[in-house]
This record gives sequence, structure tokens and C-alpha cells, in this order.
Amino acid sequence: MTDTKEIILSGMRPTGALHLGNYFGALKNWVKLQDKYKCYYFIADWHALMSDYDEPAAVKKYSEDMLCVFLSVGLDPSKCVIFRQSDVLKHLELFFIFSAITPLSWLERCPSYKEALQNIENKDIRNYAFLGYPALQAADIAIYLADKVPVGKDQLPHLELTREIIRRFNHLYSTDVMVEPEALLTQFQKLNGTDGRKMSKSYGNTIYITEKKDELTKKVKSMITDPERIHSTDIGHPEVCTVGGYHKIVSEDNLDEIISKCRNGKIGCVQCKNMLIEKLENIISPIREKYNYYKGNMAEVKKILDKGNTSARQTAGENLNKFKEAMKYD
Ligand code: TRP
Ligand code: SF4
Repeated sequence: MTDTKEIILSGMRPTGALHLGNYFGALKNWVKLQDKYKCYYFIADWHALMSDYDEPAAVKKYSEDMLCVFLSVGLDPSKCVIFRQSDVLKHLELFFIFSAITPLSWLERCPSYKEALQNIENKDIRNYAFLGYPALQAADIAIYLADKVPVGKDQLPHLELTREIIRRFNHLYSTDVMVEPEALLTQFQKLNGTDGRKMSKSYGNTIYITEKKDELTKKVKSMITDPERIHSTDIGHPEVCTVGGYHKIVSEDNLDEIISKCRNGKIGCVQCKNMLIEKLENIISPIREKYNYYKGNMAEVKKILDKGNTSARQTAGENLNKFKEAMKYD
């Protein structure tokens, strides 16, 4: 039965505490997929270390946090394989093989690499491994023979490179053992930061997935609303309001009502924010509760990870053997 299911794989870099952008943009979708597909979800800690090599302790801490969040949002270890990249060494072996067959120019011209070189100012990422970022990502994907990879738009260049590298492998060794994966573009529920810009750790405008109620309240109250609205009877424009943008994602049940009340000056922004706080708290509080439970039971969490790691190692090992056979290098 499981053999006939398509294989899904995705990973996330542990570079900071996870926020609602990660939840609505990725995790919520991962949870849904685990019922239909054979899913592998992992903590991409090596990908984090490529840029955050000066803070290994932080990467380790965020990895543990991430694992607790994965479990708290509903990733179910009885339905999917949850593992940590650095615990499955075979990824590195395939990364080496890919490093051998990938022309340098493919990596150098990768748009995300060029962009990172231009935009990242606070750290030196002109290191050897960072150039190979997409080759490791290709190995992550190929080693489980993944059919589909749920990612955001920003990852499309990496998916394209993955397909090219896999095609090159199959061509060079006259085989079809490797599967060319497809991107599964996450139907993007774009949630802005509390200041209306993209939600990002570096802007300090995030709401964490496990945010405490008083912090959540403070953050929502600080959100900028329609600047043309001074009195609660003024005509509002929910489409230009950060709070309105959040309601669009979390208030499916009474969105029309909120929008029409705002447009007709029948609701005050304070009341509208209070409604949002309640909606968000309803989503966050069960996650936060589970998160606190797992944080207090790390031995149990580590056991779950061990089980996922073991299962991932098994599959990765078998597939790598197939690849080496295809290369006649077994
Ligand atoms: N590069 C991805 C990101 O930054 C993380 C990642 C690493 C990944 N390996 C992967 C995603 C394999 C999907 C598949 O989000
Ligand atoms: Fe924004 Fe709500 Fe105020 Fe309208 S009523 S401007 S949606 S906070």
C-alpha cells in the first residue's frame, strides 16, 4: 500500500524560532499532505550551518525547537518520517557524487546564490559549502526518490537545479534510477509581518507559532491599520490594513462580515483587533500547549527523532546502493 503512494519530501532550515509565516506558508500544508502521501520531513541543519557556521550552538538549539514545533502543529510520526539531516550521513555521500558531476557554472549562476551574495551583509557566505547549497538540496531530494517537493516560490531555482543534476546523473550513467521531482507550489497564504512588510526574523516583525498570549496581544495591538481611518465610523479599507490581511487568512467563517463592517464604518479597529487576537489565540494555544509539553519531555522527543532517523537512514541507504550500482561503483 505505502509503496504505491507518491513520495513527498521537504525540509526547513533551523535558523530561528518558527513563526506564523512558516505555519501558514508551509507547515499547515505539510500536515495535510501526510494523509495522502509517503512523506519525509526534515530539519535541514546542514543547510543552516552553511550560512550560520559561526553559531553551531544556535543551530542545534533551533533544531530541537523545530522538532518540537513539527510535532506540536500535527506532524504525526506514525504517518510521516521526521528526521534531522545531519543524522543521515548518506546525504553527504550523495552530495559528494553530485558535487563531482555538477558543473561549477550551474551553481555560480543560480539566482538564489547571486541574490544571497548581494543581500547578506552581516556574514561572510563566500565559503565552499554555500556555493554547493543546491547540490546538497538535490541530494536530500534524490536520496528518497521524492516525486514532489512542497516549497515556496523562492525555492524554484533549487528545484530546477535538482532536476538538472538528476537528469545529468541518469544520462551520464545510462540509467533511469533517479526520479526527477516536481515542485509542489504551496498555495501561498501570504501573511505579512506585524508592520505590514514580509514576515522575517531580521525585520523583528514576527509572531511566533508558540507566541504567548500577552505577547500576541501586544503585537496585534501594535499593527498599523488603515491610516485614513480615525473614528470607528469612518469608511475603512481592509485591503490596505495589516489586520485585514490577517483576517483574510484566519477568519474564513466571518470574513465577509468583518470586511463589510470595516467598509461601512460599523466596527472600530480596536474591536477588530480584539477579534483577531481571539482567532489567533485559538490557533496558537493548542500548538503552544503541545509545544510546552514536548519541551518538558525532551527524552520522548528524542526517541521520536531516533525512530525517524533510523527509518530515513534505511531508505537512504537502500537508494544510495541502487545509485552506486547504476554507476557500477558498488
Ligand atoms: N532550501 C530550503 C529552504 O531554505 C530547505 C531545504 C533543504 C529543502 N533541503 C531541502 C527544501 C529539500 C525542500 C527539499 O527552505
Ligand atoms: Fe483594519 Fe479592522 Fe480597522 Fe478595518 S476595522 S481598518 S480591517 S483594523
